[in-house]
Amino acid sequence: MSRKATITGLGKYIPPRVLTNKDLEKMVDTSDEWITTRTGIKERHLVEDGVSTSDIACDAAREALADAGLAVEDIDLIIVATVTPDMPFPSTACLVQEKLGAWNAAAFDLEAGCSGFVYSLAVAAQFIESGLYRNALVIGAEILSRITDWEDRSTCVLFGDGAGAAVIEATDKGGMLAFELGADGSGGKSLYIPAGGSLKPSSVTTIEEKGHFIRMEGNQVFKFAVKTMGYAALKVIEKAGLQPEDVDLFVPHQANTRIIQSAANKLKLPEEKVFVNLPKYGNTSSASVPIALAEAREEGLIKDGDIIVLVAFGAGLTWASTVIEWNEGE
Ligand code: ACO
Repeated sequence: MSRKATITGLGKYIPPRVLTNKDLEKMVDTSDEWITTRTGIKERHLVEDGVSTSDIACDAAREALADAGLAVEDIDLIIVATVTPDMPFPSTACLVQEKLGAWNAAAFDLEAGCSGFVYSLAVAAQFIESGLYRNALVIGAEILSRITDWEDRSTCVLFGDGAGAAVIEATDKGGMLAFELGADGSGGKSLYIPAGGSLKPSSVTTIEEKGHFIRMEGNQVFKFAVKTMGYAALKVIEKAGLQPEDVDLFVPHQANTRIIQSAANKLKLPEEKVFVNLPKYGNTSSASVPIALAEAREEGLIKDGDIIVLVAFGAGLTWASTVIEWNEGE
């Protein structure tokens, strides 16, 4: 069997401050009942002022390194998936490298919206499978509260902050068996930030127009997500030479319980095989899958030999999925 990449350590960081649906009722014209029934979200966690994406990425990374039993010098590659970098450049991955002291690591960011973490797993796996690198750190970290318009009820109820990290090493048994990555750039305008880039640099006008905040056509993204999540999961299971009934745990991007439910239905998965922590955290974009994975393992839902499916969709529009035959090694 050829050499595969596998996850040997997991970590997460959830900021302590909680914003509940009841709190949001005081900020915009919404209700706990609307948010709960339309999305499944009950509360989300937000960072304090002064905390950056690289800070919370490092918190998750340190936990993942300890979990894998690796020293920081052992890391050959750092990929940070984020839509909320500390700044346009340098990359958040370089800031993380400096904060961790991971001086032997190459470092870059990957931007694929909420699919960023699973895209990054695929990229890291290529380096590990080719033998170019031994150990990689893949991090999904987001401070979405900084790009959220807190006066827009159609988006501000959805998002939260957090970070998740995974250490990737080689294995000759199991590991990440297959990937399915995709994009449909024609849907870009259904989820985007209009200003602050080369097309519309930040100016007094762009700030007045709130061009630095998330804009979303919720319905369009919803339809795309329902179509894509099931497709990407079924496709990757097929690529791995497996059947949906072989899946032990399904860990989807946590955006909306109705989207998760529709994907689970396409795979005919019973409820106990579908991991959901969305009510506690909201949508944390590229951090959502690694946080969910770390939490599922903490809860004892993942053991060696299990077949785990990760699937995400997001801005771009993008999708990404992988099948892991779990094998943490020694
Ligand atoms: N509270 C109360 N009412 C609201 C709220 C709110 N927070 N937000 C919208 N409404 C109203 C709307 O104004 C609309 O009212 P109207 O009928 O009088 O015009 C009504 O509720 C229905 O709005 P819809 O947008 O049709 O509601 P829908 O059932 O589609 O749910 C939602 C909206 C939850 C946003 C859904 O479309 C969704 O989850 N979409 C996917 C979003 C997503 O996952 N985005 C993240 C992608 S990941 C990334 O890369 C960041």
